[in-house]
Amino acid sequence: MKQPLRTYTSDGRIFHIFASKDDLDDYAFELWMNAYNKSMRENGLFCAALSGGNTPAGFYRKIASNARSFQWDNVHLFLVDERFVPLDHENSNTRMIKENLVSTVSMEEKNFHFIPTDHDTSEAAALSYENHLKTFFALHGKQFPVFDMILLGIGGDGHTASLFPGTPSLSERSAFTAASISPVPPIDRITLTFPVINHSKKIVFIVTGENKSHAIEEIAKSEKPELPASNVLSTLGEVVFLLDESAGTLL
Ligand code: 6PG
Repeated sequence: MKQPLRTYTSDGRIFHIFASKDDLDDYAFELWMNAYNKSMRENGLFCAALSGGNTPAGFYRKIASNARSFQWDNVHLFLVDERFVPLDHENSNTRMIKENLVSTVSMEEKNFHFIPTDHDTSEAAALSYENHLKTFFALHGKQFPVFDMILLGIGGDGHTASLFPGTPSLSERSAFTAASISPVPPIDRITLTFPVINHSKKIVFIVTGENKSHAIEEIAKSEKPELPASNVLSTLGEVVFLLDESAGTLL
């Protein structure tokens, strides 16, 4: 397992800084394997939620290149968030995850739980996804879905998933999903909410690039952090940030 150059800890969150993106992806893959093996031992099933954007593509390709390590019939992949565009649109997270992972392994369509964007509104899409999560996880009352691992990114403004600064979705504490508005196109988004994110057994951020370094510094060091990603505080375990040297330069 590739070790980080250095590690910074703050309020139960661990920030590992790596010499290269490849070392970072190798470490992320080990975390994925450990979470998979633990969940298969305990439940015979592995449920993970994946973010879109650009950063995680290399990690997804690393999983795909080790496809033989997984019993794909028992692996269920979910979306953390989605842009409200057709699933074959160049900005679709579903498309990105399919191209880098799902389409390259022997995974049945029924095991890939994307967010449907063929509804009239992003609100309707969010509700449809919420109902799907309730059915799949057989939830009742105030129960939340529990992912074995969730993979998150961060924007330079400190957003994570599609939970952007100053938007109502930040304060959602009971619904599993929300329609949200991005400051950059595609503006209409659907996202998991903080209570769902925070109920995940293993929360892993993959963050690279100098443009994220100030957000990382504020999340790690501020006494009263206000950035959306500072609301990711695990209820079940730890939050791990995997950073390259540029993103972690201020830690
Ligand atoms: C999305 C992601 C989003 C992403 C950050 C970082 O839909 O874009 O879910 O939360 O993780 O915006 O994006 P990059 O990895 O492209 O920097």
